[in-house]
Parts: sequence; structure tokens; C-alpha cells
Amino acid sequence: MARGTILLCLSLGLLAAANAVPFDFYYLVLKLIKLKRWIYLFLCTQWPGSICSDPCCMPKYGYPSEDFYIESFQAFDVSINKPIVRCRNSESFDIKKLDPIENSLKHYWSNINCPPTDGVDTWKSAWNSYGVCSGLKQLDYFEAALDLMKKAGVLVALSEQGINADMDMYSTEKIKWAVRQRIGVEPVVQCKDGPFVKRLDKIYLCVDTDAKTFIECPKLPATTCTEAACFQPFHNWMLNSTAAAAAFDSKILLPTDI
Ligand SMILES: *[C@@H]1O[C@H](CO)[C@@H](O)[C@H](O)[C@H]1NC(C)=O
Repeated sequence: MARGTILLCLSLGLLAAANAVPFDFYYLVLKLIKLKRWIYLFLCTQWPGSICSDPCCMPKYGYPSEDFYIESFQAFDVSINKPIVRCRNSESFDIKKLDPIENSLKHYWSNINCPPTDGVDTWKSAWNSYGVCSGLKQLDYFEAALDLMKKAGVLVALSEQGINADMDMYSTEKIKWAVRQRIGVEPVVQCKDGPFVKRLDKIYLCVDTDAKTFIECPKLPATTCTEAACFQPFHNWMLNSTAAAAAFDSKILLPTDI
């Protein structure tokens, strides 16, 4: 890649010296290089309380954290307005590489959908779909997402402004504002349809390609919320553990320690 760019610059320089190419050509090439780079990372955080408004299940490994968790972490291409998926990558998924951060993954990269799932499947699918296109090594990809999650502290951001998971209705603008107060950028707030009202479901954050810095989203996806959303409570006892025990034949499921 770097070598390709250097070669390209060199040949452009030579062409320029020869005065053989019209200005428009350079403009086009520069624009292409820039477009190619116009990629950012997209962190989707999920509120478990919204999942549990339908049946939700305890994962095989035990209780996740009572907090927002990572739903996905994608490289997003502005020029096509889509996540980049299934890139060629020589690093195939290896759960052993995630040993140092497995506990954090269980807490903050959970999957509480029914039927119950093993975290390994969730992380493997995340790596195979999106991680391989992130430009990061496997451990770095998951670590970066967890660090961003910690840095964002979405639940803290909300509670600092008096927005709590207490079944109350909160204005969508206030939710966005609260997140901005802590993180400094505008989030995208997504809602789920309920029987009477919309429920707070996901909060998206855009991240620079350094995988460290939150940025304003280059393009805001359409919001699925109306003026206000219900912030539903979430507690671990809401997770159906019968289903997990049946699916995995495990006798005791202990809460995982932080
Ligand atoms: C939990 O899951 C089991 C097995 O799928 C199901 O039979 C049971 O009705 C569920 N319990 C609740 C409270 O949803």
C-alpha cells in the first residue's frame, strides 16, 4: 500500500516533469486516493434492556454486565455508505488470542438473544465479518472496541444528566446531548418499536481510523427514534437461564467477575 503510493507519487512526479498530463488527471487521482482513505470506524452499542423487552437469554458463560454492550465494531466506507465486510485476511479467528481480555469480552461484548449463544460464536462472527476489514490484528481489534466502550461510558454519560433506565420517557435530543457532554461528539440514537412507545435501543458512535478517537459521524444514518424514547430497566435476573442450562447442559452458571 505505502509502496504503491510512493510509486504512484513518483510516476506522477515524472509525468509532471515531462509536462505530459493535464491538470484534471492529477485532480482525479488525488480525489481517488482521498476517497479510498475516507473510512472510519463505527461502534454500535446495545442497551440490553431493549433486547429483554422480548425474551432474552443468559449466555453460556454466565451473566454479562448491567451496562450497554458492544453489538458491532465495523469499518465503514463513506463513499458507498456501507460497512466493509469479509475482507481477505490471513489471520483466521483464534479464541486463544483473546485470553487476556476474555473476561471483559464476556461483560461488554455480550449476546443475550435467544436461543442462548456461546460468546465464542459471537466474537468469531464479529471477526470474520468486520474485524478482518478493520486493518487491526485480532487482539487489537477486540481490545480497541473494549477500550472505546470504557472511554465512552455511555451509561455514565446518561446518568450524569439524570437519564436512567427507570422506564421513564426521555427526549431523544436530551439523550444525544448527554452523550455529547461526556464524549464530545454527536451519537446516533436508535430505537425499537414497542407496543405503545419507542424504546431506547442502540447508541452509535463514530471513531477515527486510529481506533482511539471519537469523531463526528461523516454521514449520519437515519434515526429510528421519534421525539422521545422509553429507557427500560435491565437486570441480570431478566435473562432466561433455563434455556442456557438446557442448551449447554451446564449445572451452575456463576456471575463472572470484573
Ligand atoms: C426460558 O426458556 C425455556 C426454554 O427455552 C422456556 O421453556 C421458558 O418458558 C423460558 N422462561 C421464561 C420465563 O421465558
